[in-house]
Amino acid sequence: LLAACRICPFCKPPRMSPVVEPLSWMLGTWLSEPPGAGTFPTLQPFRYLEEAHISHVGQPMLNFSFSAFHPDTHKPMHRECGFIRLEPDTNKVAFVSAQNTGIVEVEEGEVNGQELCIASHSIARISFAKEPHVEQITRKFRLNSEGKLEQTVSMATTTQPMTQHLHVTYKKV
Ligand code: HEM
Repeated sequence: LLAACRICPFCKPPRMSPVVEPLSWMLGTWLSEPPGAGTFPTLQPFRYLEEAHISHVGQPMLNFSFSAFHPDTHKPMHRECGFIRLEPDTNKVAFVSAQNTGIVEVEEGEVNGQELCIASHSIARISFAKEPHVEQITRKFRLNSEGKLEQTVSMATTTQPMTQHLHVTYKKV
């Protein structure tokens, strides 16, 4: 039955849309190495493990999921998933993410070579989201000279100005 499938994207790897080619350096399954580093003026510095899965199914967008785990107990922590879109024929990027903390955000920015810089455009949250609320987010992704993916996240909350919250380097697995 499966062999007869003609529409399932998992049967054979789909050809990548040329629209997302400028982001192809992000594709893959990546694991934090070393563990990610969390910071914020209100928090004790912390470490975390994270798996990043960035893929495509032939559509002009990337699909992503980021799953964080406690470094010692491996207990699931922050999770988010969404899509990364490119405006055709430009370097303009839109990033849409739903997070397990009850927020949904849209970020926009630009890809330049193997670096993507984006900033929040809108953030929505569930009515009973934990305080303090995040008001702005910026992210930078880049492929470093060792072929590792890096993500840096900064945020402003209702109590703190824009400050770095996360930095993580991922190795391709
Ligand atoms: C705390 C936002 C990703 C771990 C917080 C706080 C906010 C926040 C608003 C509260 C800060 C305060 O109390 O002043 C975000 C956003 C993220 C993100 C917007 C993604 C864009 C992550 C990731 C981890 C993480 C990937 C990895 C484990 C934590 C921890 C705390 C925290 C451990 C402190 C304890 C807690 O409140 O749960 N984050 N975070 N966060 N975040 Fe994040």
